[in-house]
Amino acid sequence: MLEKITGLIDEVKNFETSSPEEIENFRIKYLGSKGILKDLFAEFKNVPNEQKKEFGQTINLLKKSAEEKVNTLKEALESAIEDKGVYGDLTRPSEPIELGSRHPISIVKNRIIEVFNRIGFTVSEGPEIEDDWHNFTALNLPEYHPARDMQDTFFIEKNPDTLLRTHTSSVQVRYMEKNEPPIRTISPGRVFRNEDISARAHCIFHQVEGLYIDTDVSFADLKQTLLYFTKEMFGKSKIRLRPSYFPFTEPSAEVDIYWGLETETDYRITKGTGWLEIMGCGMVDPNVLKNCNIDPTKYSGYAFGMGIERIAMLLYQIPDIRMFYENDVRFLEQFKSVI
Ligand code: PHE
Repeated sequence: MLEKITGLIDEVKNFETSSPEEIENFRIKYLGSKGILKDLFAEFKNVPNEQKKEFGQTINLLKKSAEEKVNTLKEALESAIEDKGVYGDLTRPSEPIELGSRHPISIVKNRIIEVFNRIGFTVSEGPEIEDDWHNFTALNLPEYHPARDMQDTFFIEKNPDTLLRTHTSSVQVRYMEKNEPPIRTISPGRVFRNEDISARAHCIFHQVEGLYIDTDVSFADLKQTLLYFTKEMFGKSKIRLRPSYFPFTEPSAEVDIYWGLETETDYRITKGTGWLEIMGCGMVDPNVLKNCNIDPTKYSGYAFGMGIERIAMLLYQIPDIRMFYENDVRFLEQFKSVI
């Protein structure tokens, strides 16, 4: 009998678990109202008197061991739960960290930069808060010129000379003021127009401006550059130039690419024509060159400007411009890119 109890004491000492159910089962097995100790104490009265002392001590030892075991296991469990609260589960295997993705506007901007870098264009930037001279006057848009109305400008109320730039053409003025031809630069950036927000228009959007000034630059150079760009960017090699008007270029044109009419979406986005307008362009007006201290009798050049959102919407078939600015991760995480 005594041997059985000392065996039980060893069993208690060796018992280990971190599961709350197993601790409770252990407690019930030894200390419960129908447990081992209850039986042993009941047995006590049958023990011969001379053995009672030793028997009693051993049962008490077993009882104490079982109680201590339950307490230490419970304490260990509680402190493990507390640690988890502070540090998380320290035993959890490490997982790969989720990588963020670049914004589609940045991806398209970087692609445009990359395409023009290859033919020698550098990147230049200018301020978003502009003055009247760089955004309008130097670009052949003097005060009271009707074409200013096209631009829906945000003015700084107290100082009408200060405004949020309405196009990145302001950067070409700044660049020409500071650099001598030959000039080959593109200027990506954010622009602002006081327009109602809809699926197709936003009051904040992005443009890329291109400028090339040298001796003997002709309209043929412009056409060739645009053709190169549309091939690289969209894989489409049919473009057309429609005569248009911009105060800072003469002649001016709008560039359409032939998108095709293969799918229903093609029909919808090209309004059944197969053609899509992607940018404005033209030969820099001699007046603009003069305003920027470049001799128009010696130099000529071309300029073009396009909306990045528009190009991104075409490339990725995005139906609503507002999706770019909502920061919905379900939208953003679809764009993975190495550039
Ligand atoms: N600045 C014009 C716009 O915002 C685009 C453009 C740039 C047109 C350069 C011609 C030349 O619409």
